[in-house]
Amino acid sequence: MDTVPTICTTDRPNGKPLSKVTIVGSGQVGMACAFSLVTQGITDEVALVDMVKDKLAGEVMDLQQGSVFTPGVKIYGSTDYSVTKDSKICVITAGARQKEGESRLQLIEKNVQILKQTIPQLLKYSPNAILLLVTNPVDVLTYCAWKISGRPVGTVIGTGTSLDTGRLKFLIAEKINISPKCVHIWIIGEHGDSSVPVWSRLQIGGVNLQELNHPSGISEEKSLEELHKAVVNSAYDIIKLKGYTSWAIGLNVADICRTILHNSRRIHAVTTLVQGFYGVGEEVFASLPCVLDTSGISNVIPLKVNDDEKEKFLQATNTLYEVQQSTGL
Ligand code: 2OP
Repeated sequence: MDTVPTICTTDRPNGKPLSKVTIVGSGQVGMACAFSLVTQGITDEVALVDMVKDKLAGEVMDLQQGSVFTPGVKIYGSTDYSVTKDSKICVITAGARQKEGESRLQLIEKNVQILKQTIPQLLKYSPNAILLLVTNPVDVLTYCAWKISGRPVGTVIGTGTSLDTGRLKFLIAEKINISPKCVHIWIIGEHGDSSVPVWSRLQIGGVNLQELNHPSGISEEKSLEELHKAVVNSAYDIIKLKGYTSWAIGLNVADICRTILHNSRRIHAVTTLVQGFYGVGEEVFASLPCVLDTSGISNVIPLKVNDDEKEKFLQATNTLYEVQQSTGL
């Protein structure tokens, strides 16, 4: 009688996958990304790679054993980067994460070293993969990944302020009792402390903020400032409560991967080269609304902002540029 095959946590299936996403890092964020991709059936294969062998094997086996309850994504992992072969997208979540009260920018040195080890390995097995940075500080690390990889700028993307934008849409929707999908606003600039909400372009189902006069008083300056403050503090508040953030960023990454893999040309606020926008003279990476498709970023949307929003964007990019320069890349 044939022996029942053991659960393969390291062997890749045969043949080239139709669509495959590699996730570097099997920590809380990496596994939230994997769980989101698998439960929504966004890709055919998910490969996980990490240096911590037992944790990785346990996470892979645990997720594999839920396969019968999901659309049917092939899941495997290894400490050997060969497992990432033929990936369309490589999601990089590995790195030190913020401790309570720690800023994202304080993580830069350690996480640049991880990129220098990781990226050459990923591109060895998937030379044309799109790199999707999640590790913080994500805007600066996206610049670093672009420099380390030597890949075309549109193929090195950071999750950037797509998460901040999603958080703000949720908070506004809660305040006025409407679906977050009907809230149209962008947060641009830096993911985190100096993010810039473009209030001047806020629309709820096509109605401008100024015309809204909603009983909640959402259009008032104070209310808008409170909403943005809540977005900026989100990660700090959640980290204080549970030690890390994971679910929102995992769902956000899956949504970005869906747009890329399905070539749907949806627009996401992601990190890219913003030189030339709003008077940015330097080669600096920050977030702007971008059209995504199988090529990565195909267009950056020249969003019209007011003078105050432009000034805040420039302040954010100046801060990011200084940190970028400190990496020596
Ligand atoms: C977040 O904002 C920590 O950057 C991560 O959830």
